[in-house]
Amino acid sequence: MTAKRQPLDGSTWITGVGREYRGRGIGTAIKVEALSRAKARGLRALVTTNDEPNKAMREINATLGYQPLPARVQLEKPLLH
Ligand SMILES: CC(C)(COP(=O)(O)OP(=O)(O)OC[C@H]1O[C@@H](n2cnc3c(N)ncnc32)[C@H](O)[C@@H]1OP(=O)(O)O)[C@@H](O)C(=O)NCCC(=O)NCCS
Repeated sequence: MTAKRQPLDGSTWITGVGREYRGRGIGTAIKVEALSRAKARGLRALVTTNDEPNKAMREINATLGYQPLPARVQLEKPLLH
């Protein structure tokens, strides 16, 4: 991430809902609760990362107003033997 993180940034990792309970608004509710708790503690922003193909999570975050930061590209150099 090239954006400079600020001292009052929090972050979340891995929001998960059991398969049989998905599509009922639980994932959204979990994120709303995390945002509410962060705000109540005086944080400036919550930062998260998404895998590009994860449409469900990207949709939830977009709906909640998460703004994209500059992309981070992972590289790999195969070590051939
Ligand atoms: C991502 C995840 C947490 C979503 O939980 P959920 O409870 O099913 O989500 P919600 O019911 O709150 O869905 C809210 C919105 O997300 C979007 N969405 C949810 N599932 C989707 C899917 N399979 N494809 C596209 N959009 C989807 C929709 O816009 C939906 O709104 P709508 O129901 O009004 O159409 C859940 O799918 C999950 O646990 N996935 C596996 C773990 C994971 O990949 N976590 C994220 C990486 S950290």
